[in-house]
Amino acid sequence: MPTKIAPSILASDFANLQKEVEMLNASQADYIHVDIMDGVFVPNISFGIPVTEAIAKHAKKPLDVHLMIVDPDRYLEAFRNAGAEIITVHYEACTHLHRTIQGIKQLGAKAGVAINPHTAVDLLEDLIEDIDLVCVMSVNPGFGGQKFIENTYQKVKKLKKLIMSKGAKTQIEIDGGVNLQNAPDLLKAGADVLVAGSFVFSSPKPIDTIAELKQLY
Ligand code: DX5
Ligand code: ZN
Repeated sequence: MPTKIAPSILASDFANLQKEVEMLNASQADYIHVDIMDGVFVPNISFGIPVTEAIAKHAKKPLDVHLMIVDPDRYLEAFRNAGAEIITVHYEACTHLHRTIQGIKQLGAKAGVAINPHTAVDLLEDLIEDIDLVCVMSVNPGFGGQKFIENTYQKVKKLKKLIMSKGAKTQIEIDGGVNLQNAPDLLKAGADVLVAGSFVFSSPKPIDTIAELKQLY
């Protein structure tokens, strides 16, 4: 399957959001990754529902919404209505994760589960078949532009094994510090979707950078 690229709008110029979304529309990006931070689950606040709606208004690519928030069940419907196609919640933020996943699916969205760098992939064993996408955090969530954590490779390999052993169709997404240097090894380890924020938006030619990531396999 071709590599999917999900540029993170968090690294874009918020004063020119429409222009940034149009740039992504014109690129080979597969999704637009939308990072929601509440200042509680993570030590930073990004933006919320109205800004997600504004992005969706111009987006021609599906929105991949990453909820770094406590008690995400309260907001699933609002983000779905705002235009989320994939809704990803954090394993660490959900007491009844199975119920949360079913809730996302009932809204007609794809269900993602993100795991922090300290969370073992084995913890997903009993519900992996229900998850459309696992977002493996390769940085501690909360900020763009952080350094990639090398332990991610072995986590991705383990997760790929788990998915294969269950015959599941779960996609593996990598989020944090992804660039052209680590992307080939991540794909080799089993990644399907690469999120890239600062690497794409700090590039002088983001469309070309997205194309370069896209042609990796
Ligand atoms: C981190 C976010 C990431 C971040 C990625 O908390 O979930 O999606 O925006 O940005 P880079 O690629 O700059 O690490
Ligand atoms: Zn993210």
